[in-house]
Parts: sequence; structure tokens; C-alpha cells
Amino acid sequence: MTTTLITGANKGLGYESARRLIAAGHTVYAGSRDAERGRRAAERLGARMVLIDVTDEASVAAAAKTIEAGGGLDVLVNNAGIEGRTPDGGVAGAAEVTADMMRTLFETNVFGVVRVTHAFLPLLRRSTAPVVVNVSSALGSMARITAPGTPAYAYPGVAYPASKTAVNVITVQYAKAFPGMRINAVEPGYTATDLNGHTGTQTVEEGAEIIVRMAQVGPDGPTGGYFDAEGPLPW
Ligand SMILES: NC(=O)c1ccc[n+]([C@@H]2O[C@H](COP(=O)([O-])OP(=O)(O)OC[C@H]3O[C@@H](n4cnc5c(N)ncnc54)[C@H](OP(=O)(O)O)[C@@H]3O)[C@@H](O)[C@H]2O)c1
Repeated sequence: MTTTLITGANKGLGYESARRLIAAGHTVYAGSRDAERGRRAAERLGARMVLIDVTDEASVAAAAKTIEAGGGLDVLVNNAGIEGRTPDGGVAGAAEVTADMMRTLFETNVFGVVRVTHAFLPLLRRSTAPVVVNVSSALGSMARITAPGTPAYAYPGVAYPASKTAVNVITVQYAKAFPGMRINAVEPGYTATDLNGHTGTQTVEEGAEIIVRMAQVGPDGPTGGYFDAEGPLPW
């Protein structure tokens, strides 16, 4: 029996990944930072609800205690993320971005990943087949963001791509440190969710594909990699 935690599973890609992993036989803890949103999602999914705000040390520690008491953890999907839109719905480009904006976004997308992974490491180390999936983005790819003519190149925001590049480095460093675990970064692709005001061109079913695949990777599978549904991505 595989036990899986997905952060930010009350909607979007996290919710769809939870649905698919439950169908594949995982016991899923659907993470939500809001008790009511989480309860409703978990009920619809047939998941266990766990309250977890990735920016809050005490919340993450309490979630780890709950899951430890429930029998432990095999798979961690660090999915919770924000894009950090400005009040007019845009993204802050180089002329507008401030250190405070960066800090807020990094608190969730980067420090959140480290906070959650660190708290769950003792549980993962007790698993016979531990897996971590870090939900990154192609916008975190230095190769893509410097390739003229690509959607990544055209994206004007600073904080979000920087946060996902940091997630990629974090993924590699953890993978090297824990060779017994399968730890990968994934790019779901541009998917219609609340994150982008549903402008994404893919469905959540398509977007969740690589998250679900990498959550089910076996001990012989890749680690320290960066993948979308088509295969490895350039860093
Ligand atoms: N959609 C895309 O095109 C796309 C492309 C590449 C990568 N991604 C990545 O995919 C992941 C999921 O995004 P999505 O598109 O599914 O967005 P979404 O529908 O907005 O879902 C984001 C989830 O993260 C949760 N969350 C945000 N801050 C949190 C916090 N501090 N603690 C716990 N949960 C928190 C949200 O909870 P609330 O409901 O409480 O806000 C929500 O459940 C993100 O890491 C995103 O960067 C998305």
C-alpha cells in the first residue's frame, strides 16, 4: 500500500493528481491550507484530508505528525504553488518586481518545498520506495527562458520563473543527497487552472499526467531529473 501526500490538492493539478493516484490504488492525503476547502475536496476524492499551509512551520509539523500517526509516507508531491499576480491580473516584470513580491512568492514556491520536504524526510526515509515529485514549470528552465521565439522567452514575470529555477536546483541537490529516493521535478505544461485565470491551453487531465507518472516511479526509475509529459527537459 502506497501512501501519498499532495500539497495544494483541494483544486487544480493537485486535485486531479489526487484523483488519479487514488484510482491507481494510493492512499492519498489531500493537503489543503483551508479546512473547509480541504474537507470538501477530500470528501469528493475519497482522500484523507490534511491541513497544511506550506508557508507555516507549525502547520507543516502538525501535518507530519498526523501522517506519521496514520502509518507513514511513501510519496510526497510538492504541488502547492502561486504565480503572484498583480492586482490588475498581470505579472510583475523587471520594471515592477520588488523584493517583497519575490519574498512572498518564494515563501510558498521555494521555502514551502524545503519546509515540507524537510519535515517529511524522516517518514520518507522509513519508506521502502520513497518518491518526491516537485511541481516545477518550463519557466524554470534556463534553456527555455533564454530561447527566443518560445513561450517561456516571452514570459515577462521575474519571481515565478526564478522560484521554479530554484525548485529545479533543490530537486537535484536532494536527489544527489538521497540516492535511495526517486526525486524529480516536473513541468505539467500550460494548464487551465485558477493559477492563470484558466488561460492555460491544456486540461488538468493532461497537465496532471507527468505528476501522476513521476509519483508512481519505481526504485529503478529516474531521479534528479526534470520532465514533462514528452520526456526530459533541458535545465
Ligand atoms: N497551471 C499551469 O499552467 C502550471 C504550469 C506549470 C506549473 N504549474 C504548477 O503547478 C502547481 C499547481 O498549480 P495549479 O495550476 O493547479 O494552481 P491552482 O489551481 O491555483 O492550485 C494551487 C494549489 O496550491 C495551493 N496553495 C497555494 N498556496 C498554498 C500554501 N501556502 N499552502 C498550501 N497550499 C497552497 C492552493 O490552495 P488554495 O485553494 O487555498 O489557494 C491550491 O490548492 C503549482 O506549483 C504551479 O506553479 C502550473
